[in-house]
Amino acid sequence: MDKEDIIQKTIAFVREELSEAEGGHDWWHIKRVWKTSQQMAQKENVDVLVVELGALLHDIADAKFHRGDETIGPAKATSFLETIDVDKSIIDHVKNIIEHVSFKGGNFERTFSSKELDVVQDADRLDAMGAIGIARAFNYGGFKNRLIYDPEIPPKLNMTKEEYKKSTAPTINHFYEKLLLLKDKMNTNTGREMARKRHDFMEHFLEQFYNEVGERFFFQT
Ligand code: ADP
Ligand code: NI
Repeated sequence: MDKEDIIQKTIAFVREELSEAEGGHDWWHIKRVWKTSQQMAQKENVDVLVVELGALLHDIADAKFHRGDETIGPAKATSFLETIDVDKSIIDHVKNIIEHVSFKGGNFERTFSSKELDVVQDADRLDAMGAIGIARAFNYGGFKNRLIYDPEIPPKLNMTKEEYKKSTAPTINHFYEKLLLLKDKMNTNTGREMARKRHDFMEHFLEQFYNEVGERFFFQT
């Protein structure tokens, strides 16, 4: 099977698997991450097929929606890629990308490295920033029945992986717990560059938000 067939078959698989997904983790999130990864791959020295497959399959079974089980996504992706006869070395690399792409709080050590993971992770993080990032955060909060904000619950900085996973804080806190930290976590120069504008937009949004609700603007990144 040639590369184009592999990509097309993977798209069909992912669209079907994510047909019932929450609005921030649906096919359109995957498509944005895939497109951004393609753009970044042109400027970084990477295996483009690995990057594209990693991007397309990175949220195939996000642990958040599978009772915290982090093994389902990599296993699903592996068995799918085997059915379309992708080389084992590519499958292993894609599996590693899926296993290591997630944020999981600020204090998570990454135990696998590759340029291809760097690109997919940056593209995924960019989609959590800027206007689309704001929309996704509030959609996720609504999906989880979280408050928009609560002036009596301040954001908690530097959470551990466990605290981050368990947190049920209001969505506005998520900006301080994760979204504003992303610009300094970019792996590639291309990603860092793209992150700047989206970060500034989130800062403006928060400034306006706190003005409107009449609370002191909490900002310390
Ligand atoms: P990662 O896989 O890198 O850990 P997530 O899956 O946690 O990233 O984040 C994906 C999207 O879901 C992002 O847009 C993020 O803002 C949103 N999201 C995740 N957790 C929360 C939360 N507690 N409150 C609001 N949005 C969240
Ligand atoms: Ni994602």
